[in-house]
Amino acid sequence: MNGLLLKLARRLPPEPVLVTGASGRIGRRLLEVLSAAGRKVYAMSRNEGAGFPSGVQLRTGDLTRAESLPGTLEGVGLVFHLASYAPSPEDPDPENSPAHQAVTVSGTRNLLEKAREAGVASLVFTSSTRTIDGSDSSYAQAKKTAEKLVLTVSKDMKTTVLRLPPVYGFARQGSIAQMLAAIDAGRFPPLPDFGDLRSLVHVDDVVQVLLLTVLSPMAAGKVYTVTDMQTYSSRQIYELIYAALGKTPPQWRVPAWLLRAGAGAGSLLESITGRSMPLNRGKLNSLSRSAFFDAGEIGEELAYSPLHTLEEALPEIVRQFRA
Ligand SMILES: NC(=O)c1ccc[n+]([C@@H]2O[C@H](COP(=O)([O-])OP(=O)(O)OC[C@H]3O[C@@H](n4cnc5c(N)ncnc54)[C@H](OP(=O)(O)O)[C@@H]3O)[C@@H](O)[C@H]2O)c1
Repeated sequence: MNGLLLKLARRLPPEPVLVTGASGRIGRRLLEVLSAAGRKVYAMSRNEGAGFPSGVQLRTGDLTRAESLPGTLEGVGLVFHLASYAPSPEDPDPENSPAHQAVTVSGTRNLLEKAREAGVASLVFTSSTRTIDGSDSSYAQAKKTAEKLVLTVSKDMKTTVLRLPPVYGFARQGSIAQMLAAIDAGRFPPLPDFGDLRSLVHVDDVVQVLLLTVLSPMAAGKVYTVTDMQTYSSRQIYELIYAALGKTPPQWRVPAWLLRAGAGAGSLLESITGRSMPLNRGKLNSLSRSAFFDAGEIGEELAYSPLHTLEEALPEIVRQFRA
């Protein structure tokens, strides 16, 4: 456990903490830190069987059912609101599921109303850089609306919005882990250089920022973009993963036009069969478009300094992947 994260978690106000989306990728890491720091933590989940670190108390609740929320918020002083619709891997168009509106918009509205009634002092909401990269997906629209809802209540409680790019640090989940598994299995095409620039952030740095946000009065009513302050391209990520796996990338690269043709065929097959394909237009667009963001503001205002870069983190991710 990183010493800085523990130190920050120990400095949080003494009131109990509620984490929504506690069973998710980031939620689990946050719970580990809060519980190791000896904080009183409640983990919200819809699932009565969800398992959490010892000392963390499960509070069952569903954001889309307002009547299930008062019990989850009882006695809570601080909320980390991480929950969002988690699509199944089979969903061919996860960014456009109607569930984003239900969970992220209606669910956040329900949570804010009940949190205000319960006298919660502060709430941090994890949004996405999809809100500022030109996307008009249901996911991006829902996050934009929820951001506004969160900031609107900032006169009643201290609220902060964190916009996250893709998060790494997981061996089995997320886009980096998926690329790693596909490269390891020899199923990933040798990428061309698309000339893209992109941002990423390590899960520990998301936890760092969640904690810094609560500790700083400057963060009240703010929207911060959080990255690891590096610049990557898809080709560079591909090469870093090869190096971490101890392999050499093939000498040849798939031409961009061939990838585009394959992606078009994948999208067509998806529309006919309703099943997810390894490559489609959306997936190729995610690989080839630029998505770079400046995290200078949070660096300056909250003295945020990233603990990790992808290159430095990959050997541990590969070790966990192999285990
Ligand atoms: N991971 C990334 O790369 C990334 C990038 C940008 C932004 N973010 C944002 O960061 C946050 C956390 O991401 P993550 O990847 O850790 O999430 P995740 O693994 O997809 O988990 C989502 C969580 O939301 C909960 N949830 C879903 N519907 C719910 C409902 N109706 N009521 C209550 N809880 C519900 C689920 O809990 P139960 O199933 O236990 O109820 C699940 O634990 C999300 O807001 C996400 O949009 C993540």
